[in-house]
Amino acid sequence: MKDFISIHDCSTEEIDKLLKLAIKLKAELKNGIPHPILKGKTLGMIFSKSSTRTRVSFEVGMTQLGGYPLFLSSSDIQLGRGETIYDTANVLSRYLDGIMIRTFSHQDVLDLAKYADIPVINALTDLLHPCQVMADLLTAYEHKGRLKGLKMTYIGDGNNMAHSLMYGCAKVGMDISVATPAGYTCDEEVVSNAKDDAKKTGANIVITQDPVEAIKDADIVYSDTWVSMGQEEEKAERIRVFKPYQINRELFGKAKPDAVFMHCLPAYRGFEVTEDVIDSPNSVIFDEAENRLHAQKAVMATLMA
Ligand code: CP
Ligand code: NVA
Repeated sequence: MKDFISIHDCSTEEIDKLLKLAIKLKAELKNGIPHPILKGKTLGMIFSKSSTRTRVSFEVGMTQLGGYPLFLSSSDIQLGRGETIYDTANVLSRYLDGIMIRTFSHQDVLDLAKYADIPVINALTDLLHPCQVMADLLTAYEHKGRLKGLKMTYIGDGNNMAHSLMYGCAKVGMDISVATPAGYTCDEEVVSNAKDDAKKTGANIVITQDPVEAIKDADIVYSDTWVSMGQEEEKAERIRVFKPYQINRELFGKAKPDAVFMHCLPAYRGFEVTEDVIDSPNSVIFDEAENRLHAQKAVMATLMA
């Protein structure tokens, strides 16, 4: 494993190892046991989009591992003025021990990884958000005691979250039903890859336009914003189209009685989810946010040590 760009590229064993390491590092942190696995190492963090959780959890995580996180806003570095990915990758490889990048084009991240001699971590593209899903799998495991055989339901946009959740569930043998409106369906190649992975683990992947059908028997109900970063101009149209895909008490009530609600955050209450769901005792959103820290420390420690 040189890079962490897509869960589809990882084996089930690699995902399992990352989760086990995350659990270990989390316990060590809670017990005040230091783990300076990346002492003296530097992680460059390129951001072309906003972030709260990703930036803070990577910075804090790197610090806890004994290393140094270097924040690089794309508007401040020459990449934002047209310097090539090739030159950026080669130059940064001479200074850093790893690169984390959040950007628009998934191809840019693939190119960065191709040209860099150091590990590259995908911290969200328009196509995928694998770091979030590692935290989500850890959270699901903590709340349900297992991953294989559970059922997740994702309702909303067929976006980066839907794609990475499908990849994650397929790898760990968790069933996933995805309900999106017509015209906002998932990337066909991602669905096909996930279905191939699912065959190996026994996971069942269902794609539908019907949120009521999708949510039946769900152990985990997942939602994400209807308007992702970069789609701000489509906001009014999206709010209209996605209205029937809101997770409210009535819809959530059709999942299993002990179902947990998950959201990668940031959330927009009254749009993709109502307050009575996201702020209910079933909601585990802040556990997910915390687990970004532990899951990403496992990824960094694995790639950069
Ligand atoms: N979930 C997530 O990636 O949050 P940020 O956009 O705040 O980093
Ligand atoms: N789908 C959202 C996820 C934010 C963490 C976006 O890309 O903006």
